[in-house]
Amino acid sequence: MLSNNIQIFYNSGTGNTYLIVKAMVEVFTNNQIEVKTYRIEKTDVSDINLDIPIGLAFPVAFQSTYKFVWDFFKRLPKSNGTPIFMVDTMQAFSGAIVGPLKKVLTEKGYDCIGANEIVMPSNLFNKNINKEKNEKIITKGIKNAKLYANQLIEGNTIWRRIPLLSDGLYKLCVNDFVLNIINKTYGKKITVDKEKCIKCELCVKLCPTKNIKMDEYPVWGENCQLCMRCLSYCPTEAVIIPNKTFKRYKAIESTLHLKDI
Ligand SMILES: Cc1cc2nc3c(=O)[nH]c(=O)nc-3n(C[C@H](O)[C@H](O)[C@H](O)COP(=O)(O)O)c2cc1C
Repeated sequence: MLSNNIQIFYNSGTGNTYLIVKAMVEVFTNNQIEVKTYRIEKTDVSDINLDIPIGLAFPVAFQSTYKFVWDFFKRLPKSNGTPIFMVDTMQAFSGAIVGPLKKVLTEKGYDCIGANEIVMPSNLFNKNINKEKNEKIITKGIKNAKLYANQLIEGNTIWRRIPLLSDGLYKLCVNDFVLNIINKTYGKKITVDKEKCIKCELCVKLCPTKNIKMDEYPVWGENCQLCMRCLSYCPTEAVIIPNKTFKRYKAIESTLHLKDI
């Protein structure tokens, strides 16, 4: 990838993807490549510069990624061969993102130069959190991210696509039916423990789909995509799902991952 500039569009619910992007930015910068990073949920696609390579970074969710992230991919403008690469972070496995995303981007005219999937700790309703084990996973993930950035610089990456199976799985995983189930099962049940809530409105500000509104206390609407931000970053652990116990995971203590890097 011969370029002095890169723009990376990223989403990170609980910080894993942020750490990976940060590691890649470090490598690019050390190689005299100027990188600008933007949060997906704050990006107007008409502002994207199609003359410089694009990176996409996001968490895996439901074997694919969040619907609002997919909506961003689908809104990307048509291109005349802009190089584009992706990196996702996941606990274990994705079956419905690498191929389907390549299909969408290729149809739009992008040149899909590289895809990498990096294992990071689970952020989904962990019964327990083993900090030592997670630190090892993160260290390995960051090493993998740096290697990938170097391979991108060398032009030594590929973006494979296994059609049929992943397209089918994508249709199963990313649709309104699934979103409704998520909202019924979790989203609409998320609430606050009024004794703990300090009405700081951080959850309202953090929600990437603007699904939380402030009444006397925060109230969740119909578009929760389960990114875990409100649950993980509430300073008093007041955001709860009644009758569900789990340990809150966050890759970094602060909400730094919500600032552009
Ligand atoms: C709702 C939800 C669904 C997830 N689905 C998957 C999955 O299908 N496969 C997987 O390997 N990890 C899955 N994960 C784990 C995350 O992909 C992983 O922890 C990721 O690194 C989180 O990134 P972030 O901290 O940047 O949000 C899921 C997490 C959440 C919250």
